[in-house]
Amino acid sequence: MARHIVARTSEIPAGGNKVFGLEGRDIVVFHVNGEFFALLNRCPHEGAPLEKAACVARLTSPEPGIYQRDRVGEMLRCPWHGWEFAMRNGQSWFDPKRFRIRSYPVAVESGAELQKGPYVAETFPVHIEDNYVIVEV
Ligand code: FES
Repeated sequence: MARHIVARTSEIPAGGNKVFGLEGRDIVVFHVNGEFFALLNRCPHEGAPLEKAACVARLTSPEPGIYQRDRVGEMLRCPWHGWEFAMRNGQSWFDPKRFRIRSYPVAVESGAELQKGPYVAETFPVHIEDNYVIVEV
């Protein structure tokens, strides 16, 4: 992987993002909670630009009526169809197979594993050196 110095840390505001063309690909770098994340700027579903995605929290429910938010700002909600991806590793948290009208056997399993979808957004390592954001592509 080649290292690309893409910006000073101050050029990507907290809660914002910036798109860079690196080796023929558009890469979007997000600045969230003091960390930087780089993803391919293309949703793996139908190709929406992830720079337009909302940065949201992960919502979980340990029991009916109780909701918990974590990873605040680290989840991307695609602007086209609302699929959600974890910024840290690109993992989708949407499973299209669950929307078929059909009956299935029922089992009780760990909620965290059940919610992960089959799609993963492509991510790239990011480093900060001397106030510069460096992306490896
Ligand atoms: S293009 Fe992103 S959810 Fe459909």
